[in-house]
Amino acid sequence: MTDDDGWQRVAAREDIKPGVVFAANLAGSPIALTEIDGEIFAVNDTCTHEFALLSEGFLEGEEIECPLHQARFNMRDGRCLMGPATQDLDSYEVKVAGRDVLVRAKPST
Ligand code: FES
Repeated sequence: MTDDDGWQRVAAREDIKPGVVFAANLAGSPIALTEIDGEIFAVNDTCTHEFALLSEGFLEGEEIECPLHQARFNMRDGRCLMGPATQDLDSYEVKVAGRDVLVRAKPST
């Protein structure tokens, strides 16, 4: 459920841990969350190359590697770091409210 400002609860705070990718759903789209240096980051969970869920890939530091052809992305901002993918992932605004993690799309620039 989304509030008037577009925030949607996607996880409990205790579900998101460093070194682990948590798969969630934002308005029907798969997203992936993790904790880096005490902060939570959320990106699109679908690789921009072909169809693969990055949450089934490998997290190393703040980089996630696609399980299918090993493209790499930065979990902080969705930047594509290594091909065969060439397009960045969407990244999302995240906030913690009590025991809940809320996410919304970033305003377009
Ligand atoms: S599907 Fe992710 S690199 Fe090909």
